[in-house]
Amino acid sequence: MHQDHRALGLAPLSTVACNSVSGAIDIAQGKPVEPVTLVRPHAAARAARFFVEKFPGRSMYAVKANPSPELIQILWENGITHFDVASIGEVRMVARTVPEATLCFMHPVKAEEAIAEAYFKHGVRTFSLDSLEELDKIMRATRNAADLTLCVRLRVSSEHSKLSLASKFGVAPQDAKPLLFAARQAADALGICFHVGSQAMTPEAYSDAMERVRGAIVDAAVTVDVIDVGGGFPSSYPGMEPPPLELYFETIHRAFESLPISYSAELWAEPGRALCAEYSSVVVRVEKRRGSELYINDGAYGALFDAAHIDWRFPVTLLREPQSTVRDHPFSFYGPTCDDLDHMAGPFLLPADVEAGDYIEIGMLGAYGSAMRTAFNGFGSDETVIVEDEPMVSLYAEVEREAASNVVKL
Ligand SMILES: Cc1ncc(COP(=O)(O)O)c(C=O)c1O
Repeated sequence: MHQDHRALGLAPLSTVACNSVSGAIDIAQGKPVEPVTLVRPHAAARAARFFVEKFPGRSMYAVKANPSPELIQILWENGITHFDVASIGEVRMVARTVPEATLCFMHPVKAEEAIAEAYFKHGVRTFSLDSLEELDKIMRATRNAADLTLCVRLRVSSEHSKLSLASKFGVAPQDAKPLLFAARQAADALGICFHVGSQAMTPEAYSDAMERVRGAIVDAAVTVDVIDVGGGFPSSYPGMEPPPLELYFETIHRAFESLPISYSAELWAEPGRALCAEYSSVVVRVEKRRGSELYINDGAYGALFDAAHIDWRFPVTLLREPQSTVRDHPFSFYGPTCDDLDHMAGPFLLPADVEAGDYIEIGMLGAYGSAMRTAFNGFGSDETVIVEDEPMVSLYAEVEREAASNVVKL
């Protein structure tokens, strides 16, 4: 398999053969010089099935979280038929990868040329917007199309989330009325969408946002056909263990049912992180140890952007056999570039005897990890291997095991 993490063709590609092995320890034993991305198709497939079966509406994958064509194919094969795309590059790539898929262009500020190409060339009919200017742009670009689903993005609080998305996009509730009214006139179907911020740590994020939606609908007195609760569904990281996703789904379902909308209105979601976080991890080598600081061969400009820039913590495992029996110690990481910024504070808990030449697996990098990699300073590697072992942490593995154990054999 050829795995291409620069899937949108924005940077030069290198072609790598990709083998399939059983687990991370096998990779470490091969003593790779460059970081190796491990992908776990079974983990992404399981996450997709979970959303398809349990979310009480339609789940569309937010491609920005990880635009790997292989991942998109896996999600498609496991029931994800709709994709939230945010740029013309994503539109083209998903249209190429899964031509039958339905694409929804959910970036509220788009280039007019991108809207036109999406509509006329790729059959995109759903667009989001948060201003009258954007509405005009969409109508101009589609030559006043009569078959549009227009989703007005409402600004909601990010207070329950680890990563705010409350500043940049979304019409303020007090300004929503004229926009909803105008969009209603132009649209075949009218939607309201929002984003509670990424890694929402409580279902209340969604019930609070739905109250804002209720206020906007009542105020504008328009018929709404789609409620799109956006992304924000959490994954599990050290120090960030969310409640079960089922609780989020129940809360959203209850709130949706109580909205003043028609019986035929649809409920949508745009999960990014929750569908792909468990899909990949990275095996790195320790090049040097300085006290509690480990110099590793991936970092801020590689898959560890979030670890460096927003102090996100990821699970880590020392890949040594036999395993170290020494107690854990908190480490920070330096990445390979010459930049002081290339620093991941952690703390990352690893056996205290870790040393140069050791290999470490850093988990949960499938969302906003692989997608952020650059070749800055000549570092970065496209080497990717499919593995069959379980991700270090999973929100879905236990659910799957429980479901399997409930099967009654007659
Ligand atoms: C419009 C939109 N939808 C969905 C997502 C995915 O969010 P998450 O990965 O938190 O689920 C994002 C992330 O930025 C977004 O901007």
